Amino acid sequence: MKSTPLWKLTLQVFVSFIIIASHLARPVVAEGGDSGFISIDCGASRDYVDDVTGIQYQTDEGFIESGTNYELSSPANELLSNINCLSNFPTGERQLMTLRSFSEGRRNCYALKPKHEIEQKYLIRALFAYWNYDSKNQGPAFDLYLGVNYWTTVYLFYQPCQLHEIILQRYSNTEILQVCLVNTGQGTPFINTLELRPLNNSLYPAPLPLYADFGRADVGARLSPSTTRYKDDVYDRLWSSYYDQNDPFETNVEVEAEDSAYKLPSEVLRTALQPLNHSDLLTFNLIFQKMGQHYLFLHFAEIQKLPPGHKRIMNVTFDDDNSLSQQLTLEYLKPITLCSNKITKGYINFTIRAAAASDAPPILNAFEVYISLPQLNFPTATLDVNAIMQIKHIYGICRISWQGDPCVPSKLTWDGLNCSSGDNIRIISLNLSSSKLTGQIATAIASLEKLESLDLSKNELIGPLPEFLATLPNLRLIDVSGNKLTGSIPKAFREKANLELRVANNPGLCQTNSCKGHKFLIPLIESVSALVIVSVLVSLVIWRFRKKRGIAFYLYMMEILKPKNQVFSCSEVLCITNNLETTIGEGGFGKVYLGTLSDDTQVAVKLLSPSSRQGYREFQLEAQLLTVIHHRNLVSLVGFCDENDVKALIYEYMDLGDLNALLSDKNSEVLKWNERLQVAVDAARGLEYLHDGCNTPIIHRDLKPSNILLNNCMVAKISDFGLSREFKNEKDSHLSTQPAGTLGYIDPEFQRSRKLNKKSDIYSFGMILLQLITGHPPIRRELEDNCFIIDWIRPKIECGDIQGIVDLRLTGEFLAASAWKAIEIAMSCIAPQSIQRPDISYVLQELKDCLVMEMCLANSNGIPRHSINHSGQLDSISTPSAR
Ligand SMILES: *[C@@H]1O[C@H](CO)[C@@H](O)[C@H](O)[C@H]1NC(C)=O
Ligand SMILES: *[C@@H]1O[C@H](CO)[C@@H](O)[C@H](O)[C@H]1NC(C)=O
Ligand SMILES: *[C@@H]1O[C@H](CO)[C@@H](O)[C@H](O)[C@H]1NC(C)=O
Repeated sequence: MKSTPLWKLTLQVFVSFIIIASHLARPVVAEGGDSGFISIDCGASRDYVDDVTGIQYQTDEGFIESGTNYELSSPANELLSNINCLSNFPTGERQLMTLRSFSEGRRNCYALKPKHEIEQKYLIRALFAYWNYDSKNQGPAFDLYLGVNYWTTVYLFYQPCQLHEIILQRYSNTEILQVCLVNTGQGTPFINTLELRPLNNSLYPAPLPLYADFGRADVGARLSPSTTRYKDDVYDRLWSSYYDQNDPFETNVEVEAEDSAYKLPSEVLRTALQPLNHSDLLTFNLIFQKMGQHYLFLHFAEIQKLPPGHKRIMNVTFDDDNSLSQQLTLEYLKPITLCSNKITKGYINFTIRAAAASDAPPILNAFEVYISLPQLNFPTATLDVNAIMQIKHIYGICRISWQGDPCVPSKLTWDGLNCSSGDNIRIISLNLSSSKLTGQIATAIASLEKLESLDLSKNELIGPLPEFLATLPNLRLIDVSGNKLTGSIPKAFREKANLELRVANNPGLCQTNSCKGHKFLIPLIESVSALVIVSVLVSLVIWRFRKKRGIAFYLYMMEILKPKNQVFSCSEVLCITNNLETTIGEGGFGKVYLGTLSDDTQVAVKLLSPSSRQGYREFQLEAQLLTVIHHRNLVSLVGFCDENDVKALIYEYMDLGDLNALLSDKNSEVLKWNERLQVAVDAARGLEYLHDGCNTPIIHRDLKPSNILLNNCMVAKISDFGLSREFKNEKDSHLSTQPAGTLGYIDPEFQRSRKLNKKSDIYSFGMILLQLITGHPPIRRELEDNCFIIDWIRPKIECGDIQGIVDLRLTGEFLAASAWKAIEIAMSCIAPQSIQRPDISYVLQELKDCLVMEMCLANSNGIPRHSINHSGQLDSISTPSAR
C-alpha cells in the first residue's frame, strides 16, 4: 500500500489550518463592535445583537439625558406586519418596536462620540415609526438638527414611518456629534433608531453635509421590494431595488469592488438596466424632493463577459448638455463611479448612450442622489462651550433646555444664558439664580471671557468671593446675594469701575473695611505680598541687567512652554541640529536647520541671525503668536531657545519643503493639478483661521509661496508669522509705517496708502493662486525686461486660452472647468481695490467647490483621465488628449 504523498498531507494540514483560522478569526465581540459603528436602539431596555444583521445595538444610555421609553405591546405587532412601510426598512423588527419620546423641552439631543482620529466622514441614519404608541391616532411633525444646523423635518402626519440619512465630516476627535429633535409645536418628537457608520474619507466628494434625498438605487434588482445593507455593504448603506421599463439583466459572478473606495456590494453591482431596444439610449428623469444643490453619483460595472476585443463604451450626458458629457469605458468586473457637477434645479435628466465605437448597449448598475445642506449657523465659541459644560457638570444642573449648543440657534438658547450674535458667538450673561447651587463659585466661570452679567443669587454657595471675577473685562453686574459666602470682598472689586456688585444676605461675608477680627490681618497680608512683589521686581531688575533685553518675553515663554519641555538651551539646540550640520532653508530671521529630538522626531530650527531682515521683535512676536494659535494648516511651534548667543524657534518639520521650491522648474516631480488645488484649499483654511478664527483677527502680511510648507502627507501649512499683526478692531484698518511683504506679492494698495487690512493678505493669496495655476511667479525676468504675470495672463483669459495659461508641465492633465474657476477666484483676489476683493471664507468655499469638481473625477476609479472629455463653458479648446 502506498503511503499518502507528502503534498496531499501538506494540503490537508493547510486546509484544516485555514478552517481553524477562519473559526478563530470569527469575532468574539458582536460584529459592528470594532468597525466603529454606533447603533442605538432608542427606548430599548438592554443591549443585544440583531439576529438579521448581526449588528450590536445599544440602549440610549450615555447618549441622552431626557425622554421616556416606550415599548410596543404585542397587538401592534400585527399592525406592524400589515403596514408596508416596514418593507422599506431592512432592519430587524426589533429596533422598530421600542422608541424614546420627548414630551418635555424644545430640543433634545443625542450626543455621539465616535472613536476616530480627526477628519472622519460618517453616515448618520435616524429611523422614526409612529405605530400610534401614544394612542393619539395622529403622528407628529418635528425638526431634526445636526448640531446647530437644520437637517430635515420629520413628517409623520400621513406616513407611519420615515428614515433620514446624512453624510457629514467631523473635524476633530473632540467634536461631539449632536443629533437633536426639535419640537415645533406639532406633536411630541420621538425616535426609534439612531445609527452612525464611518465612511472612507475619499467617498462622496461634494460639499458636506450631504442629505440623502432620493435614497440609493440598486438599479435592475428584480425582487421588489428588496434592500441590501450590512454585511453585504461594509458601510451599511441601504440599497433599494430600482426597476423601470428598461431591460434588466444580472449576473451571478461576484463583482470585485475591492479596488474601489466606494466598496459597492456585489449584490448591488451584479444587476443593471440596459435599454429595451439595445440600440436606444438609457434615460433617467429624477425629480427631487427638496430644492437645493444636488449631487448625483452613478455606479457602473461591466458584468457581462464580452467577446475578446469587445468593449462597452458609453457617454453620460446630464440635461442634454453635451459639453458636460463624460465618456467611460468599462472593464470586466471593475466598478467605476461618476459624479455629477452640482445640480441646482429641482430635477435632473441624464442619458447614457453607447459611443459609436461601443460593442454593447449602455448600462447602469446603481446610483445615489444627495443634496448638500447649507450650513447657516456657527456654533458657540469652543472656549465658552467647554466652560458652560463644566459649570453644568460641577453643579449638576439638570435643566431641560440645557442640551445641544448653548447659544445656537438663538430660539433654542439655554435658559439663563444670553449670547452675542454674529460669527463669533459668545455667552454674555449667565443667570443661575435660585438654582440650588452648592459648593464654591466655580473657576470655570473665569473662562466665560465675554461675560457682562452674572447672577448666582439665592443659592447655597459657600467659600470666598473669588478675585478672578473682578478680572473679567466686560463684567458689569455680579449678583451673589442670598448665599452663604464667607471671607472678605477682594480689593479688586472695589477698584473695578462700572461694576455693580450685589452681596446682600451673605451673613458670613465681610462687606466693609471695618470688619472686626480681620482688621489687622488684611494690612498684614497686604504688606507681606507687597514685600514679595518688591523682591521679585528687584531680582527681575538684576536679571534684566544681566540679560539686557527681553526678560518679560522670556518669562512669558517660560511660563507657557516650560511645562511641555519646550524651552531649549543653547547647547541643546546645537545638539539637536548636530552643530548646525544641515541647512534646509532661509527665512526672514536667518537660516533654518534640520534637527532631531531625542524621540527621533524631526524638527526645523530657525536661528535668528544678527544680520537678518527681521529682528528680535519679530522673532518674539512670532513665538508669542504661535503659542496661542493652533491650526492644522499653520506650522506649529515645538519649542524655543532665547539665550544671549542663540535665539532659535523650533518648529515641526515639513518634509516636502516650501511651495516655491515645489513649483520651481528645478523640481522634477511636477505637482499635479488636484494637488495644487488641495494646497490652495489648505492655505486658504489656514488663512481663514488667522482672519476669522481667532479672537482678534491676525494679518499675516508676508504671504508668498516660500512661506507655505508641505509635510509628507501633502498637507500645506502657512509659516513665518514674524510680520503678522493682530487687529484689535476689525472695522478699522491700521496705518503701518513699517515696510512688509515681498515684491510681487505685496498689495499695491497697501504700498500706496500704508493702510493694512485683511484684504492685503487676500491679494498675496491671489498671487500665490496664480502661481499655482501657471507655475510662474508674479514677476519674471525675460531677457532684459520684467514680465508681470498680470499683463501676461489678461489677454490669454480674454481669448479663452486655458492651455496657454495653465502650467505646461501639467500636459493638459486637468479639468478645464476647474482651472477656469481657479483663475476666476485668483483674479477676484487681486482686484486693484481692496474693497472689491472677496473674504477668505468665500475664497475657501469656491476653492473647495473647485477641488470637488476635480476630485469627482479622480475618485471615479479606473477612468483614465484622457478618456474623459469634460469641458467647461469658457473652454474653447478641449484638452488635447481627450477622446
Ligand atoms: C479609502 O479608499 C482609498 C481608495 O480606494 C484607499 O486607498 C484607502 O486606503 C481607503 N482608506 C481606508 C481607511 O480604508
Ligand atoms: C431598435 O431601434 C432601431 C433604431 O431606432 C430600429 O431600427 C429597430 O427596428 C429597433 N428594433 C426593435 C427590435 O424594435
Ligand atoms: C435672573 O433670573 C431671575 C428669575 O429667573 C430674575 O428675577 C432675575 O432678575 C434675573 N437676573 C438678571 C441679572 O437678569
